[in-house]
Amino acid sequence: MRPEPNRKQRRQVTEAILLVGGKGTRLRPLTVNTPKPMVPAAGVPFLTHQLARARAAGVDHIVLATSYLAEVFEPYFGDGSALGLSIEYVTETDPLGTGGAIRNAASHLRSGPDDPVLVFNGDILTGLDIRALLATHESSGADVSLHLTRVEDPRAFGLVPTDATGRVTAFLEKPQTPEEIVTDQINAGAYVFRRSVIDTIPTGRPVSVERETFPELLSGGAHLQGMVDSTYWLDLGTPQAFVRGSADLVLGRAPSPAVPGRCGDRLVLETAEVAADAKLTGGTVVGPGAVVGAGARISGSTVLADAVIAPGAVITDSLIGAGARIGARTVLTGAVIGDGADVGPDNELRDGIRVWCGATLPQGAVRFSSDQ
Ligand code: GDD
Ligand code: MG
Repeated sequence: MRPEPNRKQRRQVTEAILLVGGKGTRLRPLTVNTPKPMVPAAGVPFLTHQLARARAAGVDHIVLATSYLAEVFEPYFGDGSALGLSIEYVTETDPLGTGGAIRNAASHLRSGPDDPVLVFNGDILTGLDIRALLATHESSGADVSLHLTRVEDPRAFGLVPTDATGRVTAFLEKPQTPEEIVTDQINAGAYVFRRSVIDTIPTGRPVSVERETFPELLSGGAHLQGMVDSTYWLDLGTPQAFVRGSADLVLGRAPSPAVPGRCGDRLVLETAEVAADAKLTGGTVVGPGAVVGAGARISGSTVLADAVIAPGAVITDSLIGAGARIGARTVLTGAVIGDGADVGPDNELRDGIRVWCGATLPQGAVRFSSDQ
């Protein structure tokens, strides 16, 4: 028999809210048909990695806060039992923002007012020690605890300066001026909230947890605690980051219990067909039903289901959408090819180019070099 928990011995946290309702605009055209968390990374929808990591840290009840393309989550994850989880779905008809989504999802929590509740952004790949974040929350007695990481250019993130004890002194979302760049510590998108703090977020209108809730909590004297660490961390919000994250999962640089296979230089999913002399390296993943032709070289890239890579194509750090076709000898570097697009032979596409879903490029239509 487990002893009854008393006020000092809080029960172990078992609940988390996952924010998965964003439009994923910066990932287009990957997110035209699929919400960002459902785009496959290392062979499974990215969200699977986050769910599996949460489960491994002892979380057993997860509320998914959905909005954009909300209908695709439940058919895939169901009640969560395949992952050892109990998953519930909450949908915002009009997006409520990050804070509004947390408040809205909280109606499905089972925790008491003093219990810790985990909240995760749905596009972060990280080796964060979730239990350590909970332990920090517990030992500091904070109202909210935040995972922080250091980045070279913090402008695309929430800046979170702390004092010598790790207590948060300010929260500056997406700073605009050089004077605002006061630290290289950023919000890494994982929080522990005391349940009762979530209940103070206003209902019925959009609220940004970064621009409204955190600054207001701070000015009201609340205790926000930061935990900085230097583990693997990547926001998969852009195509280049997404491709990098998928490759790092395959290579084993980013930890996840959900990679379907052994980590190594490549991951070829069942029913994919890869020619014997094709070269797959750098964490390349080839999705189910995809075909890679003779002599093709693919490095650090993601080839989604049913795509066809013709012989002699050379693909580096790129993402090939589901059912897309890449012609013979075509060279792709840092390119994103939308679902069902048809890139003819002898094209050369580079440097962040995005080919839209279903688009067609004739043979030799785009070149960067003048060597034709
Ligand atoms: N349910 C719901 N409703 N989810 C939302 C909504 C909404 O209205 N808006 C955004 N989300 C989800 C997104 O799907 C994503 O998982 C998460 O909230 C964060 O949104 P992003 O759009 O990815 O924000 P960001 O990357 O610009 O900035 C956030 O993450 C950074 C770390 O990667 C902020 O939290 C920054 O402070 C942080 O540094
Ligand atoms: Mg993001």
